[in-house]
Amino acid sequence: MSARTRVGVVVSGAGSNLTALLDACDTPGFPAEVVLVLSNRRQCGAIDIARSRAVEVLSLPVGDFGGDSLARDRALVDALRAARVELPVCAGYNRVFSADVLTAFPDILNVHPSLLPAFGGGMNAVEDALAVGVKVTGCTVHLLASGAVDAGPIVLQAAVAVHEDDDVDTLRARIHEQEWRLLPHAVELWATGRLQRDGTVVHVLPSPRVREQAR
Ligand code: GRF
Repeated sequence: MSARTRVGVVVSGAGSNLTALLDACDTPGFPAEVVLVLSNRRQCGAIDIARSRAVEVLSLPVGDFGGDSLARDRALVDALRAARVELPVCAGYNRVFSADVLTAFPDILNVHPSLLPAFGGGMNAVEDALAVGVKVTGCTVHLLASGAVDAGPIVLQAAVAVHEDDDVDTLRARIHEQEWRLLPHAVELWATGRLQRDGTVVHVLPSPRVREQAR
């Protein structure tokens, strides 16, 4: 019986994806556990959820670092290492990591509420999809790429049909339901060695490969 993958979740928002991941981790046999929740906020819904589920929380507002986001990111890397996190996961994190974070952790999962590469690069993916009248949108779990926002090898995607009477809230709610399914699945795939990175592409392997020596 191998140890479970140690996950650190980075958050800024309501925390519904964090809840989905914590619920998955509570499922018998799930190959990962959330050992730390990090936030750029002092307070947010996701922090409350982590505390209510007895997960260690660390708040790293940039103000505590004199506004120096590089210094904040160094503290974030230190905290992830101290907690022996193997896989960081961004679940509604509203900041962009500096290159140092990606150097320390080449594999970081992120969830985004659109079918990337459409509607990347901002916080308004659902609004923007409605504004141009797409008939299908969805969500994406991808690995972060250094120096790019909402870009990097795509791990999983789910399509969501846009209804004629959708508004931002109704469409976001259906996208969220798919995110709650996809994100834990992506963590499971990573933890069981089923993601193979090949340049700009991630292949989902049918069976686990032997994971390379940990960084
Ligand atoms: C999600 O829609 C995610 O795709 C985006 O931020 C939102 C976070 O929602 N990056 P929650 O905080 O997990 O409820």
